[in-house]
Amino acid sequence: MDTVPGDSEHDELFQAAPCGLLRTDERGTVTRVNDRFAGWVGFTAEELIGKVRLQDLLTVGARIFHQTHWTPLLQMQGSVSEVKLEVRDRDGHTMPMVLNAIRSTAAGVVRHDIAAFVAHDRHKYERELIDARKRTEALVSEATKLKELANTRAAVAEQMMGIVSHDLRNPLALILMSTELLRRGNPTENQVKIADRVARAVGHSNRLIADLLDFTAAQLGKGIAINRQACNIHAVMAVCVDDLAQAFPKQQLRHVAQGNGDCSADAVRLSQLVGNLVANAVAYGSDVEPIAVISAVDSSGFSLSVTNSGEPIPEDIRDSLFQPLSRGTTGGAARSIGLGLFIVNEIARAHSGKVTVQSDVAGTTFTAYFPLS
Ligand SMILES: Nc1ncnc2c1ncn2[C@@H]1O[C@H](COP(=O)(O)OP(=O)(O)OP(=O)(O)O)[C@@H](O)[C@H]1O
Ligand SMILES: [Mg+2]
Repeated sequence: MDTVPGDSEHDELFQAAPCGLLRTDERGTVTRVNDRFAGWVGFTAEELIGKVRLQDLLTVGARIFHQTHWTPLLQMQGSVSEVKLEVRDRDGHTMPMVLNAIRSTAAGVVRHDIAAFVAHDRHKYERELIDARKRTEALVSEATKLKELANTRAAVAEQMMGIVSHDLRNPLALILMSTELLRRGNPTENQVKIADRVARAVGHSNRLIADLLDFTAAQLGKGIAINRQACNIHAVMAVCVDDLAQAFPKQQLRHVAQGNGDCSADAVRLSQLVGNLVANAVAYGSDVEPIAVISAVDSSGFSLSVTNSGEPIPEDIRDSLFQPLSRGTTGGAARSIGLGLFIVNEIARAHSGKVTVQSDVAGTTFTAYFPLS
């Protein structure tokens, strides 16, 4: 058997090539092999040549592949490229190898020339890809489960909110009615004061319940429900500002109307939006300067804005102003929960509008803009 090429330079190149090189006969018996390949599998060239077949060096799975694919492919198309097979070394350790083979015939004798590369890195990389895919699949399935759980919890929370608010509203209505009855029964000045205080507390509780219901509806992805109707926004705001003036008797409120007031909107919700902005202006703005409510309509849409003087909005809460439960830490209402602006934003969104804020030493203006389309 021919193990030593004549030309020493060729021989050196053959032995030192950065890949395993071997030649087999048609049945797979090694007829020539370089030291690199022999070293990888833990044999000497002499131990392999004429004694070992390529398939003898393969794991069982690789041997099956060799039989079912490798040999037929070499016979049919004369070559096999980049096939990854598990090769066993002398001690039975396996290593992944990528093999390329070419079939040729010399003097009527068939031979297979094979180049082999150890593919530890590629193998590792492929394993990592498979593992990463498995992990992703597990995460997706986990996320789906969590989402289902969250949906169930959200539905339960919504039902609870509905039940609690309903059950709270009835006793609150009863308390309010009782304050009316107290007033009719010739009360003393002190009793009137107490009745007023109770009535204000009921009003506050009712607003809180309404906010919580809106918050729940918005959080559950349904958004706040609106009922659009043709209305005159200036007329709606005139009434709204009047009501707010009653609610905040110590604060000066001004309403400015610009343009023709015709629009299509949910008047109750827009009054709630302005009510929340004015409540904030009263709570966080100057006590002495008036608060301005401007309703403006032009050909592209209409806007509602509320301006107050006083300290500007602190920098650190500006980015999260419209997030639920986000509130400043200083000044304002001691019992605030940070839902007002979230609801303002949701009402605007339900009308396909958006809210912007401008705040500096000159004052703070919140503007809700509603495009006509
Ligand atoms: N006009 C304003 N001027 C200065 N700061 C404001 C003004 N409006 C809102 N803020 C700041 O933004 C925060 C968030 O306002 P938001 O109305 O969402 O919640 P809240 O007023 O704290 O609570 P809630 O409205 O639920 O009672 C407030 O706590 C306050 O710090
Ligand atoms: Mg508020």
